[in-house]
Amino acid sequence: MSARIFISRDSGALCVGAEEVARAFYKAFETRGLDVEIVRTGSRGMYWLEPLVEVAADKGRVGYGPVKAGDIDALLDAGMLEGKPHSLGIGVVDDYPWLESQTRLTFKNCGIIDPRSLEDYKAHGGYRGLAKALAVGPKATIEEVITSGLRGRGGAGFPTGIKWRTVADTQTQQKYIVCNADEGDSGTFADRMIMEGDPFVLIEGMTIAGIAVGATYGYIYIRSEYPDAIEAMEIAVREARKGGMLGRRIAGSEFDFDMEVRAGAGAYVCGEETSLLESLEGKRGEVRAKPPLPAHIGLFGKPTVINNVLSLATVPIIMSEGGPHYRDFGMGKSRGTMPIQLAGNIKHGGLYETAFGITLGALVDDIGGGTRSDRPVRAVQVGGPLGAYFPRALFDTPFDYEAFTAADGLIGHGGIVVFDDTVDMAKQARFAMEFCAIESCGKCTPCRIGSARGVELVDKIVAGDDAAANLIVLEDLCNTMKFGSLCALGGFTPYPVMSALTHFPEDFGAKKRLQAVE
Ligand SMILES: Cc1cc2nc3c(=O)[nH]c(=O)nc-3n(C[C@H](O)[C@H](O)[C@H](O)COP(=O)(O)O)c2cc1C
Ligand code: SF4
Repeated sequence: MSARIFISRDSGALCVGAEEVARAFYKAFETRGLDVEIVRTGSRGMYWLEPLVEVAADKGRVGYGPVKAGDIDALLDAGMLEGKPHSLGIGVVDDYPWLESQTRLTFKNCGIIDPRSLEDYKAHGGYRGLAKALAVGPKATIEEVITSGLRGRGGAGFPTGIKWRTVADTQTQQKYIVCNADEGDSGTFADRMIMEGDPFVLIEGMTIAGIAVGATYGYIYIRSEYPDAIEAMEIAVREARKGGMLGRRIAGSEFDFDMEVRAGAGAYVCGEETSLLESLEGKRGEVRAKPPLPAHIGLFGKPTVINNVLSLATVPIIMSEGGPHYRDFGMGKSRGTMPIQLAGNIKHGGLYETAFGITLGALVDDIGGGTRSDRPVRAVQVGGPLGAYFPRALFDTPFDYEAFTAADGLIGHGGIVVFDDTVDMAKQARFAMEFCAIESCGKCTPCRIGSARGVELVDKIVAGDDAAANLIVLEDLCNTMKFGSLCALGGFTPYPVMSALTHFPEDFGAKKRLQAVE
Protein backbone atom coordinates (compact mmCIF):
# COMPACT_ATOMS: atom_id res chain seq x y z
CA MET A 1 0.00 0.00 0.00
CA SER A 2 1.29 3.47 -0.86
CA ALA A 3 1.91 6.01 1.90
CA ARG A 4 -0.75 8.66 2.54
CA ILE A 5 -0.35 12.16 3.79
CA PHE A 6 -3.07 14.67 4.65
CA ILE A 7 -2.92 18.43 4.05
CA SER A 8 -5.79 20.83 4.69
CA ARG A 9 -7.32 22.86 1.89
CA ASP A 10 -9.41 24.81 4.41
CA SER A 11 -9.07 28.55 3.73
CA GLY A 12 -7.40 29.10 7.13
CA ALA A 13 -4.65 26.71 6.06
CA LEU A 14 -4.54 28.01 2.49
CA CYS A 15 -3.87 31.55 3.63
CA VAL A 16 -0.74 30.43 5.46
CA GLY A 17 0.61 28.47 2.50
CA ALA A 18 -1.01 25.00 2.50
CA GLU A 19 -1.36 25.02 -1.29
CA GLU A 20 2.35 25.77 -1.85
CA VAL A 21 3.27 23.05 0.64
CA ALA A 22 1.02 20.50 -1.10
CA ARG A 23 2.51 21.38 -4.48
CA ALA A 24 6.05 21.12 -3.10
CA PHE A 25 5.23 17.67 -1.69
CA TYR A 26 3.96 16.50 -5.09
CA LYS A 27 7.22 17.68 -6.63
CA ALA A 28 9.40 16.10 -3.95
CA PHE A 29 7.61 12.75 -4.29
CA GLU A 30 8.07 12.86 -8.04
CA THR A 31 11.76 13.73 -7.74
CA ARG A 32 12.34 10.96 -5.22
CA GLY A 33 10.20 8.46 -7.11
CA LEU A 34 7.93 7.93 -4.11
CA ASP A 35 4.39 6.62 -4.41
CA VAL A 36 2.52 8.78 -1.91
CA GLU A 37 -1.13 9.79 -1.98
CA ILE A 38 -1.91 13.33 -0.83
CA VAL A 39 -5.41 13.65 0.63
CA ARG A 40 -6.74 17.18 0.94
CA THR A 41 -8.82 17.53 4.09
CA GLY A 42 -10.33 20.33 6.15
CA SER A 43 -8.48 21.72 9.15
CA ARG A 44 -8.27 20.26 12.64
CA GLY A 45 -8.64 23.84 13.87
CA MET A 46 -5.15 24.27 15.37
CA TYR A 47 -4.35 27.22 13.18
CA TRP A 48 -1.00 28.08 14.73
CA LEU A 49 0.20 24.67 13.44
CA GLU A 50 -1.07 25.16 9.87
CA PRO A 51 0.02 24.10 7.35
CA LEU A 52 -0.21 20.89 9.37
CA VAL A 53 0.85 17.80 7.47
CA GLU A 54 -0.32 14.44 8.76
CA VAL A 55 1.01 11.01 7.85
CA ALA A 56 -0.91 7.76 8.19
CA ALA A 57 1.27 5.63 10.46
CA ASP A 58 0.62 2.38 12.35
CA LYS A 59 0.02 4.23 15.62
CA GLY A 60 -2.37 6.75 14.02
CA ARG A 61 -1.93 9.95 12.08
CA VAL A 62 1.33 11.65 13.01
CA GLY A 63 1.49 15.42 12.55
CA TYR A 64 4.13 17.97 11.56
CA GLY A 65 3.57 21.69 11.58
CA PRO A 66 3.73 24.44 10.69
CA VAL A 67 5.42 23.11 7.55
CA LYS A 68 6.97 25.34 4.90
CA ALA A 69 7.95 24.16 1.42
CA GLY A 70 11.60 24.54 2.46
CA ASP A 71 11.16 21.99 5.29
CA ILE A 72 10.10 19.12 3.05
CA ASP A 73 13.46 17.59 2.19
CA ALA A 74 14.53 17.55 5.84
CA LEU A 75 11.20 16.04 6.86
CA LEU A 76 11.45 13.26 4.27
CA ASP A 77 15.09 12.60 5.18
CA ALA A 78 14.08 12.30 8.85
CA GLY A 79 11.58 9.54 7.98
CA MET A 80 8.40 11.56 8.12
CA LEU A 81 6.59 9.02 5.94
CA GLU A 82 7.08 6.45 8.73
CA GLY A 83 5.97 8.96 11.36
CA LYS A 84 9.49 9.41 12.74
CA PRO A 85 10.50 12.35 14.96
CA HIS A 86 11.42 15.79 13.64
CA SER A 87 11.54 19.19 15.32
CA LEU A 88 8.20 20.06 13.65
CA GLY A 89 6.60 16.82 14.84
CA ILE A 90 3.66 16.93 17.25
CA GLY A 91 3.26 13.16 17.59
CA VAL A 92 -0.02 11.34 17.07
CA VAL A 93 -2.47 14.15 16.26
CA ASP A 94 -5.42 12.66 18.13
CA ASP A 95 -3.27 12.50 21.28
CA TYR A 96 -2.08 16.10 21.01
CA PRO A 97 -3.33 17.69 24.27
CA TRP A 98 -5.10 20.64 22.60
CA LEU A 99 -7.15 18.23 20.52
CA GLU A 100 -7.35 15.34 22.94
CA SER A 101 -8.92 17.50 25.68
CA GLN A 102 -11.85 18.45 23.43
CA THR A 103 -15.22 16.77 23.08
CA ARG A 104 -15.68 16.72 19.36
CA LEU A 105 -19.23 15.91 18.38
CA THR A 106 -20.15 18.46 15.69
CA PHE A 107 -16.52 18.56 14.50
CA LYS A 108 -15.98 14.80 14.82
CA ASN A 109 -14.81 14.39 11.23
CA CYS A 110 -13.42 17.84 10.48
CA GLY A 111 -9.78 17.67 9.43
CA ILE A 112 -9.99 13.90 9.14
CA ILE A 113 -12.06 13.13 6.06
CA ASP A 114 -11.82 14.18 2.43
CA PRO A 115 -14.59 16.80 2.17
CA ARG A 116 -15.14 16.04 -1.51
CA SER A 117 -15.75 12.33 -1.03
CA LEU A 118 -19.19 11.05 -0.16
CA GLU A 119 -17.68 7.58 0.28
CA ASP A 120 -15.17 8.84 2.84
CA TYR A 121 -17.95 10.61 4.74
CA LYS A 122 -19.98 7.40 4.83
CA ALA A 123 -16.93 5.40 5.86
CA HIS A 124 -16.62 7.68 8.90
CA GLY A 125 -20.19 7.16 10.08
CA GLY A 126 -21.83 9.68 7.75
CA TYR A 127 -25.54 9.31 6.98
CA ARG A 128 -26.17 7.10 10.01
CA GLY A 129 -28.22 9.99 11.42
CA LEU A 130 -30.36 10.15 8.29
CA ALA A 131 -30.87 6.39 8.37
CA LYS A 132 -32.15 6.71 11.93
CA ALA A 133 -34.45 9.61 10.98
CA LEU A 134 -35.86 7.57 8.12
CA ALA A 135 -36.37 4.61 10.43
CA VAL A 136 -38.16 6.50 13.22
CA GLY A 137 -40.06 9.02 11.08
CA PRO A 138 -40.58 12.81 11.28
CA LYS A 139 -42.34 13.07 14.65
CA ALA A 140 -39.81 10.98 16.56
CA THR A 141 -36.96 12.82 14.81
CA ILE A 142 -38.23 16.14 16.15
CA GLU A 143 -38.64 14.61 19.62
CA GLU A 144 -35.03 13.39 19.51
CA VAL A 145 -33.78 16.89 18.66
CA ILE A 146 -35.93 18.36 21.46
CA THR A 147 -34.56 15.75 23.89
CA SER A 148 -30.98 16.66 22.96
CA GLY A 149 -31.52 20.19 24.27
CA LEU A 150 -29.83 21.62 21.15
CA ARG A 151 -30.18 25.40 20.99
CA GLY A 152 -29.55 27.54 17.94
CA ARG A 153 -25.83 28.19 17.53
CA GLY A 154 -26.36 31.29 15.39
CA GLY A 155 -26.68 33.53 18.41
CA ALA A 156 -30.16 33.60 19.86
CA GLY A 157 -29.98 30.11 21.43
CA PHE A 158 -33.57 29.20 20.59
CA PRO A 159 -34.33 25.45 21.00
CA THR A 160 -33.91 23.88 17.56
CA GLY A 161 -36.45 21.08 18.03
CA ILE A 162 -39.17 23.51 19.09
CA LYS A 163 -38.57 25.60 15.98
CA TRP A 164 -38.83 22.47 13.86
CA ARG A 165 -42.06 21.40 15.58
CA THR A 166 -43.63 24.80 14.83
CA VAL A 167 -42.86 24.39 11.12
CA ALA A 168 -43.98 20.75 11.13
CA ASP A 169 -47.30 21.77 12.67
CA THR A 170 -47.91 24.42 10.01
CA GLN A 171 -49.92 22.82 7.24
CA THR A 172 -48.93 23.83 3.69
CA GLN A 173 -47.63 22.03 0.64
CA GLN A 174 -44.41 23.93 0.30
CA LYS A 175 -41.96 24.53 3.16
CA TYR A 176 -38.27 25.38 3.16
CA ILE A 177 -35.09 24.69 5.07
CA VAL A 178 -32.69 27.64 5.06
CA CYS A 179 -29.18 27.31 6.39
CA ASN A 180 -27.71 30.54 7.69
CA ALA A 181 -24.05 30.52 6.68
CA ASP A 182 -23.58 34.28 6.69
CA GLU A 183 -21.18 34.01 9.66
CA GLY A 184 -20.63 37.73 10.06
CA ASP A 185 -19.43 37.80 13.68
CA SER A 186 -15.89 38.96 14.26
CA GLY A 187 -13.58 36.16 15.35
CA THR A 188 -15.83 33.36 14.14
CA PHE A 189 -15.02 30.72 11.59
CA ALA A 190 -16.70 27.50 12.77
CA ASP A 191 -19.35 27.53 10.02
CA ARG A 192 -16.66 28.01 7.42
CA MET A 193 -14.63 25.13 8.83
CA ILE A 194 -17.60 22.77 8.68
CA MET A 195 -18.50 23.77 5.13
CA GLU A 196 -14.90 23.38 3.96
CA GLY A 197 -13.98 20.39 6.10
CA ASP A 198 -17.16 18.32 6.46
CA PRO A 199 -19.83 19.65 4.07
CA PHE A 200 -21.81 16.40 3.94
CA VAL A 201 -22.63 16.67 7.64
CA LEU A 202 -24.42 19.94 6.91
CA ILE A 203 -26.23 18.43 3.91
CA GLU A 204 -27.25 15.48 6.08
CA GLY A 205 -28.48 17.82 8.83
CA MET A 206 -30.54 19.85 6.37
CA THR A 207 -31.97 16.69 4.84
CA ILE A 208 -33.02 15.40 8.26
CA ALA A 209 -34.62 18.79 8.97
CA GLY A 210 -36.49 18.60 5.65
CA ILE A 211 -37.86 15.14 6.41
CA ALA A 212 -38.77 16.15 9.96
CA VAL A 213 -40.83 19.21 9.03
CA GLY A 214 -42.08 18.19 5.59
CA ALA A 215 -39.87 20.48 3.49
CA THR A 216 -38.58 19.32 0.14
CA TYR A 217 -36.16 22.11 -0.68
CA GLY A 218 -33.35 23.93 1.06
CA TYR A 219 -31.02 26.88 0.55
CA ILE A 220 -27.58 27.45 2.02
CA TYR A 221 -26.95 31.17 2.21
CA ILE A 222 -23.16 31.67 2.34
CA ARG A 223 -21.39 34.98 2.67
CA SER A 224 -19.60 35.94 -0.55
CA GLU A 225 -16.36 36.41 1.40
CA TYR A 226 -16.21 32.60 1.67
CA PRO A 227 -15.37 31.48 -1.90
CA ASP A 228 -13.71 28.26 -0.71
CA ALA A 229 -16.74 27.33 1.39
CA ILE A 230 -19.06 28.08 -1.53
CA GLU A 231 -16.98 25.83 -3.79
CA ALA A 232 -16.80 23.05 -1.18
CA MET A 233 -20.56 23.11 -0.62
CA GLU A 234 -21.34 23.16 -4.34
CA ILE A 235 -19.10 20.15 -4.94
CA ALA A 236 -20.62 18.28 -1.99
CA VAL A 237 -24.21 19.05 -3.08
CA ARG A 238 -23.39 17.67 -6.55
CA GLU A 239 -21.77 14.56 -5.08
CA ALA A 240 -24.67 13.96 -2.71
CA ARG A 241 -27.11 14.25 -5.62
CA LYS A 242 -25.01 11.88 -7.71
CA GLY A 243 -24.94 9.43 -4.83
CA GLY A 244 -28.72 9.47 -4.39
CA MET A 245 -28.57 11.39 -1.10
CA LEU A 246 -30.32 14.45 -2.55
CA GLY A 247 -33.14 14.70 -5.06
CA ARG A 248 -36.04 12.31 -5.47
CA ARG A 249 -36.48 9.41 -3.06
CA ILE A 250 -33.34 10.10 -1.10
CA ALA A 251 -31.43 7.03 0.03
CA GLY A 252 -34.16 4.91 -1.55
CA SER A 253 -36.81 6.30 0.81
CA GLU A 254 -40.20 7.84 0.05
CA PHE A 255 -38.83 11.34 0.79
CA ASP A 256 -37.64 13.97 -1.69
CA PHE A 257 -35.20 16.68 -0.68
CA ASP A 258 -32.88 18.88 -2.70
CA MET A 259 -30.98 22.09 -2.08
CA GLU A 260 -28.85 24.80 -3.62
CA VAL A 261 -26.12 27.19 -2.56
CA ARG A 262 -26.71 30.95 -2.67
CA ALA A 263 -24.03 33.59 -2.10
CA GLY A 264 -24.78 36.72 -0.07
CA ALA A 265 -23.48 40.12 -1.03
CA GLY A 266 -21.64 41.15 2.10
CA ALA A 267 -23.97 42.81 4.61
CA TYR A 268 -23.73 41.93 8.31
CA VAL A 269 -27.46 42.44 8.73
CA CYS A 270 -28.15 39.75 6.12
CA GLY A 271 -27.19 37.26 8.83
CA GLU A 272 -30.33 38.30 10.69
CA GLU A 273 -32.86 35.69 9.68
CA THR A 274 -35.61 37.85 8.18
CA SER A 275 -33.13 40.08 6.39
CA LEU A 276 -31.53 36.94 5.00
CA LEU A 277 -34.90 35.79 3.69
CA GLU A 278 -35.41 39.14 1.96
CA SER A 279 -31.97 38.81 0.41
CA LEU A 280 -32.70 35.23 -0.73
CA GLU A 281 -35.86 36.52 -2.39
CA GLY A 282 -33.70 38.95 -4.34
CA LYS A 283 -34.63 42.04 -2.36
CA ARG A 284 -32.63 44.53 -0.32
CA GLY A 285 -31.51 43.00 2.98
CA GLU A 286 -33.92 44.72 5.35
CA VAL A 287 -35.25 43.27 8.58
CA ARG A 288 -38.91 42.16 8.66
CA ALA A 289 -41.06 42.91 11.67
CA LYS A 290 -41.94 39.83 13.73
CA PRO A 291 -44.55 38.37 14.00
CA PRO A 292 -45.08 36.62 11.70
CA LEU A 293 -42.26 34.24 12.54
CA PRO A 294 -40.38 32.69 9.60
CA ALA A 295 -41.66 29.36 10.93
CA HIS A 296 -45.14 30.51 9.87
CA ILE A 297 -44.45 32.90 7.01
CA GLY A 298 -40.86 32.66 5.85
CA LEU A 299 -39.15 32.30 2.49
CA PHE A 300 -41.49 33.23 -0.38
CA GLY A 301 -44.23 33.44 2.23
CA LYS A 302 -43.93 29.74 3.14
CA PRO A 303 -43.18 28.13 6.53
CA THR A 304 -39.42 28.02 6.88
CA VAL A 305 -36.89 26.50 9.24
CA ILE A 306 -33.92 28.83 9.38
CA ASN A 307 -30.97 27.48 11.31
CA ASN A 308 -27.30 28.21 11.68
CA VAL A 309 -24.72 25.86 10.09
CA LEU A 310 -23.63 24.49 13.47
CA SER A 311 -27.18 23.78 14.62
CA LEU A 312 -27.89 21.77 11.47
CA ALA A 313 -24.48 20.08 11.39
CA THR A 314 -25.02 18.83 14.95
CA VAL A 315 -28.27 17.05 14.12
CA PRO A 316 -26.67 13.97 12.44
CA ILE A 317 -24.75 13.00 15.59
CA ILE A 318 -27.80 13.68 17.75
CA MET A 319 -29.78 11.27 15.57
CA SER A 320 -27.07 8.62 15.31
CA GLU A 321 -26.06 8.64 18.99
CA GLY A 322 -29.43 9.66 20.43
CA GLY A 323 -30.71 12.86 22.03
CA PRO A 324 -29.82 11.75 25.60
CA HIS A 325 -26.17 11.16 24.60
CA TYR A 326 -25.87 14.77 23.44
CA ARG A 327 -27.89 16.16 26.34
CA ASP A 328 -25.58 14.48 28.86
CA PHE A 329 -22.85 17.00 28.05
CA GLY A 330 -23.08 20.57 29.27
CA MET A 331 -24.60 22.44 32.21
CA GLY A 332 -27.96 23.95 33.13
CA LYS A 333 -30.00 24.73 30.05
CA SER A 334 -26.92 24.75 27.85
CA ARG A 335 -26.74 21.16 26.68
CA GLY A 336 -24.18 19.41 24.55
CA THR A 337 -21.03 20.99 23.21
CA MET A 338 -20.10 24.38 21.79
CA PRO A 339 -17.55 24.83 19.02
CA ILE A 340 -15.69 27.78 20.52
CA GLN A 341 -13.54 29.93 18.28
CA LEU A 342 -10.45 31.49 19.85
CA ALA A 343 -9.26 34.53 17.93
CA GLY A 344 -7.66 37.94 18.10
CA ASN A 345 -4.44 38.41 20.05
CA ILE A 346 -4.10 34.81 21.23
CA LYS A 347 -1.27 32.31 21.14
CA HIS A 348 -3.26 29.20 20.26
CA GLY A 349 -6.08 30.44 18.08
CA GLY A 350 -8.48 27.94 16.59
CA LEU A 351 -11.53 25.79 17.02
CA TYR A 352 -12.05 24.23 20.44
CA GLU A 353 -15.21 22.14 20.82
CA THR A 354 -16.09 21.38 24.39
CA ALA A 355 -19.05 20.79 26.67
CA PHE A 356 -20.75 23.92 28.03
CA GLY A 357 -19.55 24.87 31.50
CA ILE A 358 -15.86 25.55 30.91
CA THR A 359 -14.85 28.96 32.27
CA LEU A 360 -13.86 31.89 30.12
CA GLY A 361 -10.52 32.07 31.95
CA ALA A 362 -9.71 28.43 31.20
CA LEU A 363 -10.43 29.06 27.53
CA VAL A 364 -8.33 32.18 27.25
CA ASP A 365 -5.41 31.40 29.57
CA ASP A 366 -5.06 27.62 29.58
CA ILE A 367 -6.32 26.59 26.16
CA GLY A 368 -5.57 29.78 24.28
CA GLY A 369 -2.22 30.20 26.05
CA GLY A 370 -2.71 33.93 26.65
CA THR A 371 -1.80 36.61 24.16
CA ARG A 372 0.38 36.20 21.12
CA SER A 373 2.06 39.49 22.01
CA ASP A 374 3.03 38.01 25.41
CA ARG A 375 1.44 40.99 27.12
CA PRO A 376 -1.27 40.62 29.78
CA VAL A 377 -4.82 39.91 28.61
CA ARG A 378 -6.94 42.95 29.37
CA ALA A 379 -10.29 42.25 27.74
CA VAL A 380 -12.07 39.65 25.67
CA GLN A 381 -15.09 40.22 23.51
CA VAL A 382 -17.41 37.22 23.38
CA GLY A 383 -20.18 36.73 20.83
CA GLY A 384 -19.13 38.92 17.91
CA PRO A 385 -19.41 42.67 17.41
CA LEU A 386 -22.60 42.83 19.48
CA GLY A 387 -21.06 40.91 22.38
CA ALA A 388 -19.87 42.34 25.69
CA TYR A 389 -16.26 42.92 26.70
CA PHE A 390 -15.22 40.84 29.69
CA PRO A 391 -12.46 41.94 32.05
CA ARG A 392 -10.25 39.46 33.92
CA ALA A 393 -12.48 39.87 36.97
CA LEU A 394 -15.21 37.96 35.11
CA PHE A 395 -13.02 35.15 33.85
CA ASP A 396 -14.71 32.68 36.17
CA THR A 397 -17.93 33.01 34.12
CA PRO A 398 -18.83 29.55 32.80
CA PHE A 399 -19.57 29.19 29.09
CA ASP A 400 -23.32 28.89 29.43
CA TYR A 401 -26.14 30.89 27.84
CA GLU A 402 -27.74 31.90 31.14
CA ALA A 403 -24.46 32.68 32.95
CA PHE A 404 -23.43 34.99 30.14
CA THR A 405 -26.80 36.72 30.14
CA ALA A 406 -26.46 37.22 33.90
CA ALA A 407 -23.09 38.87 33.29
CA ASP A 408 -24.70 41.24 30.74
CA GLY A 409 -23.08 39.38 27.89
CA LEU A 410 -23.90 36.78 25.28
CA ILE A 411 -22.36 33.64 23.87
CA GLY A 412 -23.58 34.38 20.35
CA HIS A 413 -21.87 32.15 17.83
CA GLY A 414 -19.09 31.23 20.26
CA GLY A 415 -16.38 33.64 19.08
CA ILE A 416 -13.84 34.93 21.61
CA VAL A 417 -11.61 37.82 20.55
CA VAL A 418 -8.70 38.54 22.89
CA PHE A 419 -7.08 41.95 23.49
CA ASP A 420 -3.91 42.73 25.44
CA ASP A 421 -3.23 45.70 27.71
CA THR A 422 -2.58 48.09 24.81
CA VAL A 423 -6.26 48.09 23.84
CA ASP A 424 -8.15 51.36 24.17
CA MET A 425 -11.63 50.44 25.31
CA ALA A 426 -13.11 53.83 24.48
CA LYS A 427 -11.99 53.24 20.93
CA GLN A 428 -13.65 49.81 21.00
CA ALA A 429 -16.89 51.34 22.30
CA ARG A 430 -16.78 53.93 19.54
CA PHE A 431 -16.17 51.17 17.01
CA ALA A 432 -19.26 49.28 18.21
CA MET A 433 -21.45 52.32 17.53
CA GLU A 434 -19.71 53.01 14.24
CA PHE A 435 -20.14 49.38 13.14
CA CYS A 436 -23.83 49.59 13.93
CA ALA A 437 -24.16 52.86 12.00
CA ILE A 438 -22.45 51.36 8.95
CA GLU A 439 -24.29 48.02 9.02
CA SER A 440 -27.73 49.26 10.11
CA CYS A 441 -30.46 48.32 7.62
CA GLY A 442 -32.09 51.65 8.44
CA LYS A 443 -35.56 50.36 9.14
CA CYS A 444 -35.87 51.60 12.72
CA THR A 445 -34.88 54.91 14.29
CA PRO A 446 -33.14 53.82 17.52
CA CYS A 447 -30.56 51.93 15.49
CA ARG A 448 -30.29 54.12 12.37
CA ILE A 449 -30.05 57.45 14.19
CA GLY A 450 -28.99 56.22 17.62
CA SER A 451 -25.79 54.62 16.41
CA ALA A 452 -24.68 57.80 14.63
CA ARG A 453 -25.41 59.86 17.77
CA GLY A 454 -23.61 57.20 19.83
CA VAL A 455 -20.38 57.73 17.89
CA GLU A 456 -20.61 61.48 18.52
CA LEU A 457 -21.27 60.97 22.22
CA VAL A 458 -18.28 58.67 22.74
CA ASP A 459 -16.11 61.22 20.94
CA LYS A 460 -17.37 64.00 23.22
CA ILE A 461 -16.86 61.95 26.38
CA VAL A 462 -13.31 61.01 25.44
CA ALA A 463 -12.57 64.62 24.50
CA GLY A 464 -13.75 65.74 27.94
CA ASP A 465 -16.57 67.79 26.39
CA ASP A 466 -19.13 67.93 29.18
CA ALA A 467 -18.19 64.30 29.86
CA ALA A 468 -20.36 63.69 32.95
CA ALA A 469 -23.56 64.92 31.25
CA ASN A 470 -22.77 63.10 28.00
CA LEU A 471 -22.15 59.86 29.88
CA ILE A 472 -25.72 60.06 31.18
CA VAL A 473 -27.00 60.73 27.67
CA LEU A 474 -24.98 57.80 26.31
CA GLU A 475 -26.43 55.46 28.91
CA ASP A 476 -29.91 56.72 28.10
CA LEU A 477 -29.29 56.25 24.37
CA CYS A 478 -28.07 52.69 25.00
CA ASN A 479 -31.30 51.91 26.83
CA THR A 480 -33.36 53.35 23.98
CA MET A 481 -31.43 51.23 21.46
CA LYS A 482 -31.65 48.13 23.64
CA PHE A 483 -35.38 48.27 24.21
CA GLY A 484 -36.56 50.16 21.12
CA SER A 485 -34.72 48.52 18.21
CA LEU A 486 -36.48 46.16 15.87
CA CYS A 487 -33.68 43.59 15.79
CA ALA A 488 -30.57 42.64 17.73
CA LEU A 489 -28.19 44.76 15.64
CA GLY A 490 -29.45 47.94 17.24
CA GLY A 491 -30.66 46.09 20.32
CA PHE A 492 -27.34 44.51 21.27
CA THR A 493 -24.88 47.22 20.22
CA PRO A 494 -25.23 48.67 23.75
CA TYR A 495 -23.57 45.51 25.14
CA PRO A 496 -20.04 46.23 23.93
CA VAL A 497 -20.50 49.94 24.65
CA MET A 498 -21.85 49.58 28.19
CA SER A 499 -19.48 46.75 29.13
CA ALA A 500 -16.51 48.86 28.03
CA LEU A 501 -17.82 51.75 30.10
CA THR A 502 -18.63 49.61 33.12
CA HIS A 503 -15.45 47.56 33.28
CA PHE A 504 -12.91 50.01 31.84
CA PRO A 505 -14.12 53.49 32.88
CA GLU A 506 -10.55 54.74 33.08
CA ASP A 507 -10.30 54.65 29.27
CA PHE A 508 -13.11 57.16 28.87
CA GLY A 509 -11.60 59.78 31.08
CA ALA A 510 -8.69 61.35 29.28
CA LYS A 511 -8.46 63.06 25.95
CA LYS A 512 -4.76 62.28 25.68
CA ARG A 513 -5.42 58.54 25.59
CA LEU A 514 -7.36 58.67 22.32
CA GLN A 515 -4.77 61.00 20.82
CA ALA A 516 -2.02 58.58 21.78
CA VAL A 517 -3.49 55.72 19.78
CA GLU A 518 -4.62 57.72 16.75
C1 LIG B 1 -27.53 41.52 13.01
C2 LIG B 1 -27.63 40.04 13.13
C3 LIG B 1 -26.74 39.22 12.45
C4 LIG B 1 -26.85 37.84 12.55
N1 LIG B 1 -25.94 37.07 11.88
C5 LIG B 1 -26.06 35.72 11.92
C6 LIG B 1 -25.17 34.91 11.18
O1 LIG B 1 -24.24 35.40 10.53
N2 LIG B 1 -25.34 33.58 11.25
C7 LIG B 1 -26.36 32.99 11.98
O2 LIG B 1 -26.49 31.77 11.97
N3 LIG B 1 -27.21 33.74 12.68
C8 LIG B 1 -27.09 35.09 12.67
N4 LIG B 1 -27.99 35.86 13.36
C9 LIG B 1 -29.08 35.16 14.09
C10 LIG B 1 -30.25 34.84 13.15
O3 LIG B 1 -31.13 35.95 13.11
C11 LIG B 1 -31.06 33.62 13.63
O4 LIG B 1 -31.31 33.74 15.00
C12 LIG B 1 -30.37 32.30 13.36
O5 LIG B 1 -29.99 32.16 12.02
C13 LIG B 1 -31.30 31.16 13.72
O6 LIG B 1 -30.62 29.94 13.64
P1 LIG B 1 -30.30 29.10 14.95
O7 LIG B 1 -31.58 28.97 15.72
O8 LIG B 1 -29.82 27.78 14.44
O9 LIG B 1 -29.26 29.85 15.71
C14 LIG B 1 -27.88 37.25 13.32
C15 LIG B 1 -28.78 38.08 14.01
C16 LIG B 1 -28.64 39.45 13.92
C17 LIG B 1 -29.62 40.31 14.66
S1 SF4 C 1 -32.12 47.47 14.67
FE1 SF4 C 1 -30.95 48.32 12.93
S2 SF4 C 1 -30.61 46.59 11.60
FE2 SF4 C 1 -32.26 46.01 13.02
S3 SF4 C 1 -34.18 46.60 11.99
FE3 SF4 C 1 -33.57 48.37 13.19
S4 SF4 C 1 -32.37 49.60 11.73
FE4 SF4 C 1 -32.49 47.56 10.86
